[in-house]
Amino acid sequence: MKILVTGASGLLGLNLSLMMTGTHTLVGVDRNKLAGTPFELIQADLLDPSACSRLLDIARPDAVIHTAALASLEGCEANPDEAHRLNADMPGELAASAARKGIRLIHISTDAVFDGTKTGVYTEDDPPSPPGVYSATKLQGEINVLSAHPEAAVARVNFFGWSLSGTRSLSEFFYNKLSAGQTCNGFTDVWFCPIFVGDLAATLVRMLEKGLSGLYHTVGSEALTKYDFGVRIARRFGFDPGLVIPKSVEESGLTAKRSHNLRLSVHKLSTDLGIEIPGVSTGVEKFYTQAQQGYPQKMRSYQQV
Ligand SMILES: NC(=O)c1ccc[n+]([C@@H]2O[C@H](COP(=O)([O-])OP(=O)(O)OC[C@H]3O[C@@H](n4cnc5c(N)ncnc54)[C@H](OP(=O)(O)O)[C@@H]3O)[C@@H](O)[C@H]2O)c1
Repeated sequence: MKILVTGASGLLGLNLSLMMTGTHTLVGVDRNKLAGTPFELIQADLLDPSACSRLLDIARPDAVIHTAALASLEGCEANPDEAHRLNADMPGELAASAARKGIRLIHISTDAVFDGTKTGVYTEDDPPSPPGVYSATKLQGEINVLSAHPEAAVARVNFFGWSLSGTRSLSEFFYNKLSAGQTCNGFTDVWFCPIFVGDLAATLVRMLEKGLSGLYHTVGSEALTKYDFGVRIARRFGFDPGLVIPKSVEESGLTAKRSHNLRLSVHKLSTDLGIEIPGVSTGVEKFYTQAQQGYPQKMRSYQQV
């Protein structure tokens, strides 16, 4: 299968493209951040009004995995117009182009569409209630995609792994602080279900191969707090878990509002794919193994200089 990946320099896009090259033909959409990748690159700014249609004509993919976004919560609060354009309008335009050309699409959304006030686990049937600009624009993106391309799949994700910059993910935040012997805050009142980016990449490709469409919670199968996640990283790498300081997100000083409960059910995904969805324990193990094998350095070697 030929797969076009937008956001190829991003945490998800780069891992997905590297991992799937070999079994599939990958083409990444980039803004001159990458060089020397083992997959083809096309340069494009997705805010260019003609970019979506042009990319599909040049690459002629069987499927698109649309990961590009303004994914910083604080960045979205500071630039709501850009957030709306990139996270809401543009995905709808990409979906319309893909639908016209008969190309399958997975659009990447977020667990953060929920405000976290539910007691228990969120399913795909729960009404979203986005607490900020990022989540509101991502929710509008979901709606725009599914109305323009009813055969598309929307994957609400939360994931961790190694990135191009070495600083993009929560797992890298903990790793960077702990490996330097520094303390770091871990929120004891934010629950989430992170999935290792390699497991997410494999799951997304399975979704394409199975032809899934509609909304899917595509997170890990295990819920834990961000504090516990930091402690798991510390323990696996042999760092002092006492350096992870238990804190409330309310004391964090972060400006964008965050949900306390991002526990999402993967029952629908697991049933429709006929597989067990991995949890965080095996994911942290794979994150650790990649570090032992020099994967973070390899990622950084693809940075355009
Ligand atoms: N990280 C998480 O745990 C998490 C959680 C929930 C949902 N998500 C969603 O997952 C997806 C991937 O997230 P991520 O963490 O991989 O994001 P990321 O690392 O911030 O990457 C974003 C990507 O989008 C690209 N991009 C932004 N504006 C663009 C434009 N105008 N034209 C072309 N490309 C543009 C960026 O390119 P440049 O490098 O050139 O800026 C980058 O490759 C997003 O849809 C995000 O909302 C992520």
